[in-house]
Amino acid sequence: MPYSSPGPEAALSKPVTINTLRKYKDSGEKFVVIALYDAHMAAMAQRCGVEAVLIGDSLGMTVLGYDSTVPVTMEHMIYHIEAVARGNNKSLIIGDLPFMTYATPEDALRNATRIMQAGAQMVKLEGGEWLAGTVTMLAERGIPVCAHLGLTPQSVNKFGGFRVQGRTPEQADTILADARRLADAGADLLVLECVPAELAQRITQAINIPTIGIGAGTDTDAQVLVINDILGLTEHPPKFSKNFLTETGDIPGAMKKYVADVKNGAFPGPDNIFE
Ligand code: KIV
Repeated sequence: MPYSSPGPEAALSKPVTINTLRKYKDSGEKFVVIALYDAHMAAMAQRCGVEAVLIGDSLGMTVLGYDSTVPVTMEHMIYHIEAVARGNNKSLIIGDLPFMTYATPEDALRNATRIMQAGAQMVKLEGGEWLAGTVTMLAERGIPVCAHLGLTPQSVNKFGGFRVQGRTPEQADTILADARRLADAGADLLVLECVPAELAQRITQAINIPTIGIGAGTDTDAQVLVINDILGLTEHPPKFSKNFLTETGDIPGAMKKYVADVKNGAFPGPDNIFE
């Protein structure tokens, strides 16, 4: 079958929920996440069997032309979440809370409510132990939370650049402790971005919620890539990403190949991993 036709066997047959993703962790089968921003890509993701879609604040760079996620606003997020939700009614939809919209629990509740009402089924926020109380407060009110540790791009100015995190034993211990704390606080998923593969493996084994890696090696429960990187649209692509369009020749083919390669363990390969 040509790549341009994902084929009915690839499409998600029923809505993916957090329970579905927990079962993936328990069974050891990898699941697939794509950060994307519009209705058509969202519909294609559903046809290609992508279990979760993330409307990431990476849209600040991939769509809006900023050089970081810091300028992204709630209005940007809501516009794109509504578009994605119109295109996809099967993948789990995760919406990012942008920079400084969850700095206090009150802000987090108000803005997470808006993200959910725009069509997301889960919110994502960046940060460690300091967010544990906020995660519990949101979870108790029925708002599922995806936490995000490692290279948290909203803190790029504090990090002094987009750098791999967790390379020293002290940093690694802090990230592991943060992961445990956030899982205990009620987070449902955890994104690990740009951390050594061995640390991501330790965290994935240590906590009972699914981990989603990006630049975090092969041993997380899932992988996420940004659609622009999958399609080779990024001028200077990050080491952890891969252009799947060159080998497949069309967009549905590229998306389907990414899904297949995550599921069969071919992606990420040795070139996409940090030690
Ligand atoms: O904003 C985003 O797209 C993200 C992913 C890269 C995990 O946070």
